Amino acid sequence: MNAPAPAIDLRDVRLTLGGRTILDDASLEIGAGEFVGVLGANGAGKTTLMRALLGLVRPERGSIRVLGRPAARGNPAIGYMPQVRAAAAGLRLSGWDFVAGAVDGHRLGLPIPGRAGRAEVDRALDLVGARELGRRPLFETSGGERQRLLLAQALIGRPRLLLLDEPLISLDPHHQRAVVALARSLQAELGLTVLFSAHDLNPLLGALDRVLYLGGGHAALGTVDEVVTGHVLSRLYGSRIDVVRLDGRIFVMAGGGEEPRGEESRGEEPGEHRRHDAASPRQDAAATRGGHA
Ligand SMILES: Nc1ncnc2c1ncn2[C@@H]1O[C@H](COP(=O)(O)OP(=O)(O)O)[C@@H](O)[C@H]1O
Ligand SMILES: [Mg+2]
Repeated sequence: MNAPAPAIDLRDVRLTLGGRTILDDASLEIGAGEFVGVLGANGAGKTTLMRALLGLVRPERGSIRVLGRPAARGNPAIGYMPQVRAAAAGLRLSGWDFVAGAVDGHRLGLPIPGRAGRAEVDRALDLVGARELGRRPLFETSGGERQRLLLAQALIGRPRLLLLDEPLISLDPHHQRAVVALARSLQAELGLTVLFSAHDLNPLLGALDRVLYLGGGHAALGTVDEVVTGHVLSRLYGSRIDVVRLDGRIFVMAGGGEEPRGEESRGEEPGEHRRHDAASPRQDAAATRGGHA
């Protein structure tokens, strides 16, 4: 009868944290099966938005619907790969046990899922091409390998929506490309809707259907060509932003001209954003406007 419900539907949404407005007046729809990059400077609200979709942050006003229902905690149709996951690195668990930690009724450290659960873990590992990795302890895995295991963990329960929060952080360009390609192929193969957050747009170019840009307490959704322009981003951040396209890469710079960042300077650690890269025009601009929205 009617068109299918959008995967994500925000109406007049305001999100606040500790009295600060992180996002205001956000109304947007993301269609089922879309691959959307969530871009914005550090602190722009990417993680907060994902937590709101998970029902972990309640909107101060407006409504959030996910897969046709109001956002609520414990939605099994959402697979989530959170941003803070350094703790996994030191675990002596095997990759398989780690992925099995997401199987229903199963506790980390007590790897005894039933037969169906074990098949589900194997399936998730196969989907990310990590059957071999599953046999190794986590502390032996590289950053790129661990991201694949985390992605497998997010696929447990056969979600229809994947929220991947900065999966490229601390990966080198080669592994960044591999993670983007993997997320893209899962989207196509399983018909998933994917939200993929990043502070640099360039590794995602070519994979994205659309981009959701956050800044200054506001959101802009559209194709890369529609949204990533000096005009749109300057309005979003409330200060002058220049966008330069060069050799198939896009550089977003605060007015006054930052040096474009090169390949070699990426792959940084979380929290370490000394220079502004694509999608990270002045962090202070985002913070200031977000605070008074
Ligand atoms: N629990 C909290 N209370 C108050 N402010 C918070 C809290 N968590 C995050 N913030 C602030 O909310 C803003 C958005 O954060 P976040 O969603 O993590 O941004 P991003 O993921 O884009 O880096 C930041 O300015 C951050 O400092
Ligand atoms: Mg974040």
